Amino acid sequence: MASKAASTSIPRTMRAWTHRQAGSPSRVLSMTENVPIPTLPTDTSVLVRVSYVATHPGMLILMHFVPSWLRRMPAIPETDFSGVIVSCGKNVPGSSTTGGECEPGVRDFRPGTSVFGSMPVMPHLRSGQGALAEYIAIESAAIARKPTNISFEEAAALGVSAHTATVLVEAAEVPKDAKILINAPCGGVGHFATQLLRHRNPTARIIGICSGHNHELAVRLGCDDTIDHTAFPNAEGQTLTDYLSAKYGNEQEQFDIIFDAYGSQDLWTSSAKYLKPGRDHPYVNVGPKQGVSISEVPGFLCKVIKNSTLPTWLGGVPRPYKQISAFTNTEALEKCRDLAQRGEFKTHVGEKLNFEHALGAYETMASGHARGKVVVKIWEPERSDGAA
Ligand SMILES: NC(=O)c1ccc[n+]([C@@H]2O[C@H](COP(=O)([O-])OP(=O)(O)OC[C@H]3O[C@@H](n4cnc5c(N)ncnc54)[C@H](OP(=O)(O)O)[C@@H]3O)[C@@H](O)[C@H]2O)c1
Repeated sequence: MASKAASTSIPRTMRAWTHRQAGSPSRVLSMTENVPIPTLPTDTSVLVRVSYVATHPGMLILMHFVPSWLRRMPAIPETDFSGVIVSCGKNVPGSSTTGGECEPGVRDFRPGTSVFGSMPVMPHLRSGQGALAEYIAIESAAIARKPTNISFEEAAALGVSAHTATVLVEAAEVPKDAKILINAPCGGVGHFATQLLRHRNPTARIIGICSGHNHELAVRLGCDDTIDHTAFPNAEGQTLTDYLSAKYGNEQEQFDIIFDAYGSQDLWTSSAKYLKPGRDHPYVNVGPKQGVSISEVPGFLCKVIKNSTLPTWLGGVPRPYKQISAFTNTEALEKCRDLAQRGEFKTHVGEKLNFEHALGAYETMASGHARGKVVVKIWEPERSDGAA
């Protein structure tokens, strides 16, 4: 492919975390030296020197479940990253302009441009390419320019999690002065969702369900108050849903909308006790929580089908169930760029690991208690103002 390269020289090999079989990261992943620098697969793709990678639980599921015969191996994990373009295919928009010639457009990319991106799952599985490496070759449709007001570590998280949060929040119309319950307000998805909800609904009352030690973070993100899910069953023997039913069970106290950024089955099945009735009062969620054990898959599928299809007369929950699905694309990335640039949300980086210690990120993901986003630092560009 004809390409335009940055003035800095591109090495022939790089370091990358790779795996050759399915399984848990600590068992299958290893740091590999001398991995060939990926070549540009098309004239519309770019090569990015990766700065930060943001992990998400979906990757753990792919790594555990997708067998080697269904994907290209060896494989580099992770989809979400930030970095700087080092070379472009000849048909990448803006690639033929050089610095100073004219002001670059929003979707103009040329070597030296600071970007973030999210590789969609299918190309990730088919190509074996991923972000947990010093360089990534990716279609220009799967990147966006880094917002100028945030750092590279914050920009890395603007893919899957920020987009999922946006879809979650926009799946329901929030009435003025609404009373909202949000489950997992401090997780990768939840912390973006909480900020969006607060930004767009300044007079809403927002109650978050999180671990007690996350109370302060949840309030900073936009919750008025929190409920510590680790405190149940409590001294009176109440479960969390008993507590919610007792405290928010009468008509004046019930919630207008519940946003579940965790995927709690109990919270949904008891929701009729504390969520107002009617079409305008949905239970919006990311889908039932999925573990990484193969034995959990049938139960997960059962819940997905039952939650959205079981009629009330057969024992279904008499509240609207809205399970979202969020796949990143150009439009989604551009929207996240815009929201970050306008300050509607900001990434909370709860944990930052060096490239060599990336396995620690998977331990946090597996614990299920990430605070905001967990990022892996590969390289810190000197300039972090986002200017191309
Ligand atoms: N539908 C889609 O398209 C889509 C897209 C992306 C993600 N997802 C799913 O969304 C879920 C959340 O993703 P994420 O990236 O936010 O995960 P994450 O970054 O790992 O965060 C998980 C959060 O869950 C909270 N949590 C753990 N146990 C809990 C419990 N028993 N009750 C309530 N909250 C609990 C944790 O908060 P505390 O430490 O405070 O408990 C943590 O903040 C995952 O299941 C993921 O697979 C779905």
